[in-house]
Amino acid sequence: MTAYDVEPGDSVHPGDPVTVDRYTTGARANHWITATCLVLLALSGLALFSPWLYFITAMFGGGQTTRAIHPWIGVVLFFSFFGLFLRFWRANLWKAEDGTWLARLRDVLTAHEERLPEVGKYNAGQKAVFWLMSILIIVLISSGLVMWDQYFYGYTTIEQKRIAVLVHSMAAITIICVWIVHVYAAIWVRGTIGAMTRGQVTGGWAWRHHRKWLRELVGGKSS
Ligand code: HEM
Repeated sequence: MTAYDVEPGDSVHPGDPVTVDRYTTGARANHWITATCLVLLALSGLALFSPWLYFITAMFGGGQTTRAIHPWIGVVLFFSFFGLFLRFWRANLWKAEDGTWLARLRDVLTAHEERLPEVGKYNAGQKAVFWLMSILIIVLISSGLVMWDQYFYGYTTIEQKRIAVLVHSMAAITIICVWIVHVYAAIWVRGTIGAMTRGQVTGGWAWRHHRKWLRELVGGKSS
């Protein structure tokens, strides 16, 4: 484990930045592929959703190509997110402190973190986003397959396709909202973006926002 760059016996000077590893290169690549897919899906999906947004199809080479590639990007997102799911589901399991954290959401929003319980790798908000994304992606891929007439026309009825269009649009709008919350939180909590770009956070960030996780990481090493 190289989670904590300060090893027992190292000479540490005041002012030396302490960094903590949070994501491997593989996890970051996996994350950014998923993120790119979602942005492309949102753009191509919105382009097909309303005539007012049809102009976006120009980005994808016209209406027909937008319609043809949108489901394929969905397939890539599904498998890519599945990779993230396998990596992170365990760390997103609900713990006792998550209920307390959620009940004190007011303190979260007013930046009174000292009143919150110590949390592990993810807080309750991040966990909620993770599970919502997981459910919505399953809903999106299943409803998408029902209306993917190019390959599956004969497998479903017109009635089922109509329901699928409605479910797909509602799930898409919801996931865009969840995604906005995810990105807003990543920017709002200073130092978080670096976790997904460089793979590391500062010791101060870990201590302030995910103290239980930091304690687990350095447990067994010098205090
Ligand atoms: C394009 C804009 C996006 C940005 C700027 C962004 C940023 C981030 C950052 C900074 C983290 C690290 C948070 C931490 O370690 O505390 C993270 C984690 C994560 N992101 Fe994103 N993200 C984006 C899009 C997405 C999308 C589209 C998805 C999935 C559909 C996604 C799924 C995740 C997951 C699963 C994690 C791990 C957190 C967890 O398991 O609870 N992200 N993201």
